[in-house]
Amino acid sequence: MNDRKISSADSSALTPTIFIIFGITGDLAGSKLLPALLGLYVKKELPERFAIVGVSRRHFSREELREYLRGRMNIRPGQFFEEHIKHFLDHVSYEEGQFDSPQLYTSLAAHLKSIDDTWGQCSNKLFHLSIPPALYEGILLELSTSKLTCACSDGTGWTRVLIEKPFGNDIETARNLDKLLGKLFKESQIFRIDHYLAKEALQNILAFRFSNSLFEPLWNREHVEQVHIKLLEKETASSRGAFYDATGALKDVGQNHLLMMLAIIAMDKPADTSQSDAMRRLRARVLSKLVVIPRRSLIENLIRGQYEGFRRESGVAANSLTETYFRITAKINNRRWKGVPFYLEAGKAMAEDKVEIDIYFKGNVNGKSEHKNGIMETNRQNILTFRIQPDEGIKIRFFVKKPGVGMNTESKILKFHYADSPSLASLPEAYERLIHDAIVGDQTLFASTDEIMASWKFITPILENWSKLPLVIYAKGAREV
Ligand code: BG6
Repeated sequence: MNDRKISSADSSALTPTIFIIFGITGDLAGSKLLPALLGLYVKKELPERFAIVGVSRRHFSREELREYLRGRMNIRPGQFFEEHIKHFLDHVSYEEGQFDSPQLYTSLAAHLKSIDDTWGQCSNKLFHLSIPPALYEGILLELSTSKLTCACSDGTGWTRVLIEKPFGNDIETARNLDKLLGKLFKESQIFRIDHYLAKEALQNILAFRFSNSLFEPLWNREHVEQVHIKLLEKETASSRGAFYDATGALKDVGQNHLLMMLAIIAMDKPADTSQSDAMRRLRARVLSKLVVIPRRSLIENLIRGQYEGFRRESGVAANSLTETYFRITAKINNRRWKGVPFYLEAGKAMAEDKVEIDIYFKGNVNGKSEHKNGIMETNRQNILTFRIQPDEGIKIRFFVKKPGVGMNTESKILKFHYADSPSLASLPEAYERLIHDAIVGDQTLFASTDEIMASWKFITPILENWSKLPLVIYAKGAREV
């Protein structure tokens, strides 16, 4: 695998860059973006000259904003030195305004120019839309009309746009958003984020598959019986009730994170994993082979659930039918996977935080079957598990002979935990990797149009019939639905 990460030694080679964050006071900025920028800053992986310009509708002085962000940043006590945090926040300035007002873009342009003038250089500009998708169109149009997303007149200073998920609401709206982006920007300027792609333990699946010759020959329908991909969270929707009620689990994590995990597991082997286009093409290719579930068989292939008490969360309608849990049986129609069920499961308010992928190899026919976590497994199957988080690692269930007479066997587990290995224990946050890659212009870990369209093609027909399916109410903290 070709690791394109720049080292701290060559970060000074990066040209000055300004990060413009629309929605700097929002959840995502506090929970992921700013901590990631801080992490990169401390590791000296940001350009030596960098600035963060926050844009939001709220009224703050520069000092008040820094104070506010300090309180909002999701960092563990002791994770960073106070002095580093303070120096980092010194790079943040603020532009207040209405996102649909041309005036905002005029003052933003003056603001960015004043930073460039101080540096005596035209800087790169990375525009991050960390705001509700309904606001994308207006902002993208204004950015383009105001020429803020053009390079400087001498051709220096690239500009790039980072777009958060959900990318559209269904295939139609996703297509329209993509058309707009294509009209306003070059593809090399557009970075569509699905932060799961940048999770270290998910990327490791590619290394595991393609650097160990042991498993790849078995990676197909001849040997794999079923695959279970799950993203279970203890957290409820409480702080994001209104967003979640309008979105639901399927659009929040199904159309994107779950399907990206499926793509990584199921894609074919690329000739070269460092080729961004090839990686994105192969992910898109396998996603395009997902079998659209016919209306008549939706009920056998889908479960939708809602945790008890969801309707009492603030911002949630008292009669909400929005799902906070789903399980889909997906199939892929290609030579490698035809007939193998891929169970995609996600839920809020579950018993534990667990993002995991289990590959069940075809078992010994004499095994005893039991229903476990919603699917059948036999006690005679090899299971390969990739733990994506927390406690990232890999485990394999295998069988050994019980000592003594006869040929009885017992199952044992072979394990690898990143945390046990000092040279591997420090895993970068997904957003650190994404910001880093956006700065160096590597689009491998960003979704392409084809990937997004293929996933909507699979999800949209489900959504169209979603509300007709029964809604299972489950207790908070449930292990299974
Ligand atoms: C986000 C969803 O995209 O992913 C959240 O909007 C979800 O609802 C989150 O909790 C999970 O991401 P992570 O990185 O915390 O596993």
